[in-house]
Amino acid sequence: MVEKYTLSIIKADVGGDVGHSSVHPELLAKADEQLAKAKKDGLIVDYCRGLVGDDTALIMSHEHGVDAPNIHEFAWKTFEAMTEVAQKLKQYGAGQDLLSTAFSGNVRGMGPGVAEMDIEERKAEPLLCFLADKTEPGAWNMPLYKMFCDPFTTAGLVIDPSMHDGFNFEVHDLIEKRKIIFSCPEEAYSMLAFIGAPGRYVIKSVFRKEDGMIAASTSTQRLSLIAGKYVGKDDPVMMVRCQNGLPAVGEALDPFAHAYMVAGWMRGSHHGPMMPVGFEDSTPTRFDGPPRVVCYGFQMANGNFIGPRDMFADVSYDNARAEALWAADYFRKQGPFEPHRLSLEDLEYTTMPKLMEDLKSKWQPEKDE
Ligand code: 13P
Ligand code: 13P
Ligand code: MG
Ligand code: MG
Repeated sequence: MVEKYTLSIIKADVGGDVGHSSVHPELLAKADEQLAKAKKDGLIVDYCRGLVGDDTALIMSHEHGVDAPNIHEFAWKTFEAMTEVAQKLKQYGAGQDLLSTAFSGNVRGMGPGVAEMDIEERKAEPLLCFLADKTEPGAWNMPLYKMFCDPFTTAGLVIDPSMHDGFNFEVHDLIEKRKIIFSCPEEAYSMLAFIGAPGRYVIKSVFRKEDGMIAASTSTQRLSLIAGKYVGKDDPVMMVRCQNGLPAVGEALDPFAHAYMVAGWMRGSHHGPMMPVGFEDSTPTRFDGPPRVVCYGFQMANGNFIGPRDMFADVSYDNARAEALWAADYFRKQGPFEPHRLSLEDLEYTTMPKLMEDLKSKWQPEKDE
């Protein structure tokens, strides 16, 4: 019998402890309590509560499909309940990611990040859930490209005939609100022209071409574009299915052996290295960073999350961490100068417009020399 499930990660920052570094145990206890109740009530099949920095992720399996109002409402209410605790403890930015005051059927566009997929659970279903803090959704572009399109990363693209057809990438344009499918490897160069600009073009999902099976899904919400001003970084999540005609677990993790450069870090306004870390090291403090990623590994069994395994606790990411720390020092020496600081265009949703406005009358026209 085919077992069908929906996998949902819905995440939010509803208050930091201390500053933007972590989540207070009482908030996590509230999330755990709500998740346990939802499982007991039969709303969800199973769950794992994830954490990275000041962001809490509700990793859930259920049978209600993608975008299900009852699941989204449950997540929203859970974040509201956590916010109440955060307010009581005067946590930093209590309710930060709950941009709307009232829930209206779906958390998309309301602040929390969402990555979902409908799956037919395979005989063995290895699942990787990546959670990042102090960065934006486009941060998954490079690793997803490497996993599903780069034979120097994924040996299976060469060795496993069932992967030879390649993968379809659904890319979203977050500014114009439109989407496109790139068929790879044939359209890889065209796709790179877009996804190489990760502040605007973001890979939403990846599908195996052979049978259309979904292989990866990400959260693409950009808080500043929703709120029209800087309110915190998006801190995206992603899930990737592995093995059997998909990248092996080790292939899906290999892109993170390089601490590649992402936008985020302090005040969401700086470039910095993406550091893979184990659960123990997931709370960013240096200049509120550097940006980091944790990976929760599971074997799914009848909709249950068997795990999590702490995938980046492996010593084989020590060099990536060392590279990230070296790069962090290198970037920091540049202080307020680009390209450590994001470009003016990227700062459009911070305090920059206000500063421009304040100084407007002081600028004098200048003749060409
Ligand atoms: P095992 O032989 O350990 O199952 O590994 C096979 C594989 O595909 C590793 O990527
Ligand atoms: P978060 O998006 O993780 O809340 O961080 C915001 C920030 O401004 C860090 O300096
Ligand atoms: Mg925060
Ligand atoms: Mg955060």
